[in-house]
Amino acid sequence: MTDTTTPAASANAPADASAKAWSGRFSEPVSELVKRYTASVSFDQRMAAQDIRGSLAHARMLARQGIIGTQDLVDIERGMAQIAGEIERGEFAWSLDDEDVHLNIEKRLTALVGDAGKRLHTGRSRNDQVATDIRLWLRDAIDRILGLIAEFQSRLLEVAETHAGTPLPGFTHLQVAQPVTFGHHLMAYFEMSRRDAERFADCRKRVNRLPLGSAALAGTSYPIDREFVASELGFDEVCYNSLDAVSDRDFAIEFCAASALLMTHLSRLSEELILWMSPRVGFIDLADRFCTGSSIMPQKKNPDVPELVRGKTGRVNGSLVALLTLMKGQPLAYNKDNQEDKEPLFDTADTVIDTLRIYADMIGGIRVKAEAMRGALSQGYATATDLADYLVKKGLPFRDAHEAVALAVRAAEVKGCDLPQFTLDELRIAMAHVPGAAERLGEDVFGVLTVEGSLASRKHIGGTAPEQVRAAVARARIGLGLGQG
Ligand code: ARG
Repeated sequence: MTDTTTPAASANAPADASAKAWSGRFSEPVSELVKRYTASVSFDQRMAAQDIRGSLAHARMLARQGIIGTQDLVDIERGMAQIAGEIERGEFAWSLDDEDVHLNIEKRLTALVGDAGKRLHTGRSRNDQVATDIRLWLRDAIDRILGLIAEFQSRLLEVAETHAGTPLPGFTHLQVAQPVTFGHHLMAYFEMSRRDAERFADCRKRVNRLPLGSAALAGTSYPIDREFVASELGFDEVCYNSLDAVSDRDFAIEFCAASALLMTHLSRLSEELILWMSPRVGFIDLADRFCTGSSIMPQKKNPDVPELVRGKTGRVNGSLVALLTLMKGQPLAYNKDNQEDKEPLFDTADTVIDTLRIYADMIGGIRVKAEAMRGALSQGYATATDLADYLVKKGLPFRDAHEAVALAVRAAEVKGCDLPQFTLDELRIAMAHVPGAAERLGEDVFGVLTVEGSLASRKHIGGTAPEQVRAAVARARIGLGLGQG
């Protein structure tokens, strides 16, 4: 009976020499459970294209520097082209035995081209390789997200422009506050998305730096040319400390933070869509393709898509916390903990991309029920502030004006009407207890008590006057490079 666990046996017979890149050092293979537990190939194979790109740039650099031969480079390029084709066609045999995307590809390369494949890893470690792959992958994801934000924004602008003059109650504490336009309300979300785009673009700058050349942690003794690799891969610069380059994932955390904020904004908008679509409010209707029915209640039309956006914001927030927690206790330099960075990162990018794609379509297709919006405006004394401002402009101190209008609102409640429905005399009587108020009221007060008058008067930059909303849309279009529309 052969006991392969004894030191004597292991010294002569490495346990699994054909399967593991480091098996020379070990006396026994890992168990199936440990193999599965430590492997990342099931999820990091998503970075195969980036892994191949990074390897090709590294190989070209090695050949230019005379570290490998030119024939080696030719062989590596040929092998990688075949591997890329195999992966694309779904023919590549991913193996758990080879742990991750990097070892799987390297092993296949060696099987295809022999020694040249074994030379590829010269002056490199999986530590700087994986950091490079993630950055390449994330850069592509950010570019995609930036394009999708712009698409969402241009749809949002179309609806905002159409409804630049459509009155809607503006709320604070979810109580009717003052009239705004629906276009102005939507433009608030445009501003949020503009900052979201800025955050992703800014994060991209820090993603776009090259870790390769840092090797395991200390750099390498080969005469490498990192600037060449950086420019081959489109990186703006190299990472300037090898320990930092292989270990920190702050760029991924930043991406998740930017994603969490974007999702938070879309979650707020979703909450509004859900509320607005409730029959009790009835401000909008969503196209049927974003809703589902109920299996038991035949009358139901549920806003599933916005509800899911709101729900998925939770998982994106969770991924941010997962990455922060992953990082906080790690000593320099690379630790295997970092392998856990990928699933939250991929899931975040997938969620953001799908959410933006669906939102662009959904927001363009909402049906606005302008009558219901206006109806709600006539129920909350929305122009009360305008009445107070009117009295102030006629010389009454603001606190007195506030008191006078509060009395008018109480009288309107008793009468069961809105402020514009009072006659001038009724208004004067309602304010009689505040000295100086009643005599300042004139027929012109009805100009400010109307919704249109209230909206039109807020005509400064950033205000809700329809002309300002149109100006905001025009500015936004120029910012997006869409011209004057
Ligand atoms: N699969 C690993 C990861 O995702 C690659 C780096 C492994 N490096 C190591 N020293 N075990 O992080």
